[in-house]
Amino acid sequence: MSGFFVTFEGPEGSGKTTQIRRLAAFLEAQGYQVVMTREPGGTLIGDQIRQILLAHGNEAMKTRTEVLLFQASRAQHVAELIQPALEQGKIVLCDRFADSTLAYQGFGRGESLEDLRRLIAYATNGLKPHLTLLLDVDVEEGLRRRQPLLQEWNRLDAEALAFHQKVREGYLQLAQAEPERWVVVDAEKPIEAVEAAIREIVQARLKANKP
Ligand code: TYD
Repeated sequence: MSGFFVTFEGPEGSGKTTQIRRLAAFLEAQGYQVVMTREPGGTLIGDQIRQILLAHGNEAMKTRTEVLLFQASRAQHVAELIQPALEQGKIVLCDRFADSTLAYQGFGRGESLEDLRRLIAYATNGLKPHLTLLLDVDVEEGLRRRQPLLQEWNRLDAEALAFHQKVREGYLQLAQAEPERWVVVDAEKPIEAVEAAIREIVQARLKANKP
């Protein structure tokens, strides 16, 4: 049996973490084996790389360094955790994955999408999500929701508004270009409404995925 790989994408403050937790609980109650994870991080080595990436004080980090560190974390994550879980038939729910690199480093920082796609393919060994949910939210609204959690305010959150707007537009373009994989969810709705929408999408895909 092969598993099912779902990734959650979206700008800051889109509520990904809350929604992943709720979906995981729902699927587990239905008897599915679920692995919840996130990027950057998800493994011991990945979490060490995460600290370097998000630390204040690392403002000197060059974009290419940032790109490669995200891929280093991802390579470890895929090989150590995601691929084995999928081989065991589990559902993997991942808070951010390769599309974050395309949105943030590609559309946000202006790195070549072609170069990034090559690096991503290497890091992931070609693994792609079966389903990607874009939790779409207005950039200013997202940052407003995020700001009170000051201890979680990281180096990338601190980027200018224009950067975050490019990220959001990038996500929407990616979703449009690959509609069979992406579903855009309006994350400005109340938490329960977003939760219900996500459940419906995932259940439909799981049914369609059954042999
Ligand atoms: P995190 O605190 O996990 O943010 P969020 O709760 O918004 O997911 O920080 C992850 C940050 O790293 C976030 O700003 C997005 C960014 N990022 C990239 O720029 N490229 C990537 O490939 C990944 C995985 C994340």
